[in-house]
Amino acid sequence: MTNNKRTVTCGQLDESWAGKKVTLNGWVHRNRDHGGIHFLNLRDHFGMTQVVIDEDADESLKNDAESLKIEYCIAIEGTVRQRPDSMVNNDMKTGSIEVKANSITILNSCETLPFMIDEESEANENLRLKYRYLDLRSQGMQKRIKLRADLAFAVREYFDGQDFLEIETPTLIKSTPEGARDFLVPSRLHEGKFFALPQSPQLYKQILMVSGFDKYFQIARCYRDEDARGDRQLEFTQIDVEMSFVSADDVYAMTEGMYAHIFKKLMNIELTPTFEKITYHDALNYYGSDKPDLRFELKFQDFAPYVEKGDFSVFKSVLSSEKGAVKAMVVPGAAAAYSRKKITELEDEAKKFGAKGLAWMKVTADGLDGGISKFYSETASVITEGLGAKEGDLILLMGADWKTSCNSLGAVRSKLGKDLGLIDESEFKFCWIVDFPLFDYNDEEQCWEPAHHMFSMPQDRFIDSMEENPGDVLGDLYDLVLNGYELASGSIRVHNPELQQRIFNIVGFPKELAEERFGFLLEAFKYGAPPHGGIASGLDRLAMIMAGKQSIREVIPFPKNNVGLSPMDECPANVDEEQIRDLHLQIIKSE
Ligand code: AMO
Repeated sequence: MTNNKRTVTCGQLDESWAGKKVTLNGWVHRNRDHGGIHFLNLRDHFGMTQVVIDEDADESLKNDAESLKIEYCIAIEGTVRQRPDSMVNNDMKTGSIEVKANSITILNSCETLPFMIDEESEANENLRLKYRYLDLRSQGMQKRIKLRADLAFAVREYFDGQDFLEIETPTLIKSTPEGARDFLVPSRLHEGKFFALPQSPQLYKQILMVSGFDKYFQIARCYRDEDARGDRQLEFTQIDVEMSFVSADDVYAMTEGMYAHIFKKLMNIELTPTFEKITYHDALNYYGSDKPDLRFELKFQDFAPYVEKGDFSVFKSVLSSEKGAVKAMVVPGAAAAYSRKKITELEDEAKKFGAKGLAWMKVTADGLDGGISKFYSETASVITEGLGAKEGDLILLMGADWKTSCNSLGAVRSKLGKDLGLIDESEFKFCWIVDFPLFDYNDEEQCWEPAHHMFSMPQDRFIDSMEENPGDVLGDLYDLVLNGYELASGSIRVHNPELQQRIFNIVGFPKELAEERFGFLLEAFKYGAPPHGGIASGLDRLAMIMAGKQSIREVIPFPKNNVGLSPMDECPANVDEEQIRDLHLQIIKSE
């Protein structure tokens, strides 16, 4: 009986093994019969090796090879041989050798596959998720899950070298006020009471600072009951950090150090030592997004100075309103490629963000042409010079209230970035977004809301007069953006109970409710709480960006699908009546 236990992996062999006997275990990736010679591609986690059953092999061996179907799990015993020069495959790690098989053992057969296991699957996503164990066998998924594991390891390595402690916080907690909806867990032992799954470890990490741990981190699971999107999941992972006696600059430096370590270690990329800082206002004003993709320019300019010089009444009336703004974006060399039809597609994108339309003009040798150019024929050269637009450029113009104008032109900017291929996919452009407002006004409910969460500190200069105009108060809070994604978010926290109470008052959070929901935190602050601050990065988003993907489902082993279900184990699912009764619950079916 042959020993089927492997002596080498499928990613290991090279010419130095020529002549050696080896045993390989793995899955049949491909099985081709070339006029009596069988070529098997044998795959395992580590790679792929070509196995050959020669024309002069025993009939029984040939029959064994013949019987192999795709994804059979097999053992091959054979001898390594160097491939002839003409057969060397430089795309394959083991492409300089092949293994001449002496025996084949089937360890397990495989039924007909629901889809082919290729580097990148073309199969429908729900099918991939239903058979996730097969999908995960693909080399693409194997690489990405390894990237994720390496990422977590690099994070731990970095923090370990910086005197941080990884401390676990509970996942059955009291409902925390973090913006999203909580997942609730009914208590069996305490009738009518509920735990919540943490939206993040926010309150616990702050309490750990009160407890004197100084520097905390955790690769933490978080749960939010919200609609799933490409970069959102119901359960996800954060690299969660909190530090005592720090300013925002300390948090920036620590975070930049972490990313520098990760990118150097995993991708051999040297990041710039400090990341660019853009204020929230400028991010919107110049890029139309609080998470701008800086891999391409297309910066907005103010068109207001030219409005009076022309006859376009729409823009004049926009500027006559208090919050009105007219923004211009020059798209270099795009005039010829952008027909009226293609500009309408851009306009449709803008309309999704509240714009009523998108005005345009093209720069020609004689001045301005098309769109609204007739209103500016007298001042064409002043405009082109002022905006720095050249012959062949397309000028897009948006007039609306400032926020709508920025956001809708921002959506057009993103579309152009993709459509015109302006993005270098190998680039990683980080930036900090700073000077966020502390409060947002909710027009519907007619009240102030925390822009981030209620535990963020106002900047010093606003503390005394915070109540006078909450809309002007800037917070000591920051986001980290990478390639157009919000990667991390954090703040310096309020550690003083009176200031915390003033913030609750502004957002109309009743004292009794504050006491009930997180009285423990307010109580803790009374016992010499240190000044502290922190940040949390989305690990899934980071892995997704590093892997060059657009969905975090590509870097999560067992994600929920786009409607929040798991097709493999079919959850959420029904439970026994008895389980429901034990939890003192009753299901009321919606009509
Ligand atoms: P925030 O809610 O901004 O901050 O979350 C921090 C980061 O977590 C990631 N993230 C998500 N990733 C995948 N799916 C989701 N549903 C999801 N939601 C958030 C993002 C985001 O930038 N406690 C604060 C942090 C702090 O103040 O220290 C918090 O959770 O990358």
